[in-house]
Amino acid sequence: MKNLQIDLKNALPFINQEEFKNYSKLVVEQDKKLNSKTGKGSEFLGWINLPETISTEIISEINQTADDLRKISDIIVIIGIGGSFIGSKAIIQALSGSFDHLQTNKNPQIIFAGHNLSEDYHSELLEFLKDKQYSIVVISKSGTTTEPAIAFRILRKDLENKYGKIDAQKRIVAITDKFKGALRELANKEGYKTFTIDDNIGGRYSVLSPVGLLPIACAGFDIENLLSGAKLMMVKAQNKNFNQNPIYQYASIRHALYLKNKSTEILASFNPQLYSFSEWWKQLFGESEGKENKGIFPASAIFSTDLHSMGQYIQDGLRNIFETIISVEKTKSNLKIPADTENFDNLNYLSEKNLDFVNKMAELGTISAHVDGNVPNIKITIPELNEYYLGQLIYFFEKSCALSGYLLEINPFDQPGVEKYKNNMFALLKKPGFENI
Ligand code: PA5
Repeated sequence: MKNLQIDLKNALPFINQEEFKNYSKLVVEQDKKLNSKTGKGSEFLGWINLPETISTEIISEINQTADDLRKISDIIVIIGIGGSFIGSKAIIQALSGSFDHLQTNKNPQIIFAGHNLSEDYHSELLEFLKDKQYSIVVISKSGTTTEPAIAFRILRKDLENKYGKIDAQKRIVAITDKFKGALRELANKEGYKTFTIDDNIGGRYSVLSPVGLLPIACAGFDIENLLSGAKLMMVKAQNKNFNQNPIYQYASIRHALYLKNKSTEILASFNPQLYSFSEWWKQLFGESEGKENKGIFPASAIFSTDLHSMGQYIQDGLRNIFETIISVEKTKSNLKIPADTENFDNLNYLSEKNLDFVNKMAELGTISAHVDGNVPNIKITIPELNEYYLGQLIYFFEKSCALSGYLLEINPFDQPGVEKYKNNMFALLKKPGFENI
């Protein structure tokens, strides 16, 4: 079976070939630090073997819980922010399809909350839930993050008003730390069903834990296939032969390009259903690498839509960009452009051609235009959008991100900078203990 492939031919000409040869040694050294847990942030490496270590008991408990919620819900609201929501959103959107209506048509429909503080967003959500049967999955590793905590208080009260306290408790599942945090205390007190986030798995590396798996299962997708795909990539990641290890190649080429002043990476795709996947990727790399005044700035684009907005800049703007394209070989559907004897629209040269054929030509044309414009291109191809290949992509990016962080000599597993805004906000809100900051 064909799996995830990486193609560096449009990136290699932009770096020094002799220098690049050193990476086959350099990246193995970084990988050794990960495996021996001797590098920075080594207390957060629980995700590395997760596709293999997650137990079959937990997987069936997740599937069972998802089935129970699905039976009683038109809507399942997933409350979380950062790593506690964006991974599952990425996979659910990639598998549901890109036409907006496809997601609203699902039963149950998955809706996210607590990833912003918008009064209008949450009011509209409450209004929408009024005549619907719904349940809540609330996710917070720390159990103290303000945005999801507020959303949970609002929705919990609504749920209790709707069903009464006892029945509301049966419609709430919490995913949080095993012992500590306000969410854990509340869950224990109210007797909610809970799943645990292991201490050694950071938020943005948690999509293959209950954090991502329960929402994905609630949406009706196959989490075992997702984990199988990730497991295959985990095995590939252990291959010390540089040319046979796509993760070594990706981590190395992006670092080599960074050293040639290519400090912005655009993750692009010609598949709109990968929009949230790009958001997940941006969080993973942005929060992991942007430290000590270093790091590649992660940006994203969906083509051909964004070729009509960002395309000009990418082609001709400041030359600090490289592009990584996720190319999906096969579509789910088969839609041909109809023939038309009148040909007023001058499209007959495309009659009876599949729309995806045109999309693929746009992809080829874009890559060569951007490479001509001095934008190095890395191409990552997967055969189709299903759980198995998305699992491969997730693990591919997680491991690449960790190695890439080590090549930059930063800790890819912490996020000290995120505390800054929180402290200012708490001081402004006069949160007890923060008055004098
Ligand atoms: O990657 C991370 O660690 C963060 O993005 C967290 O996931 C995010 O801040 C949410 O934290 P928590 O799950 O503790 O509410």
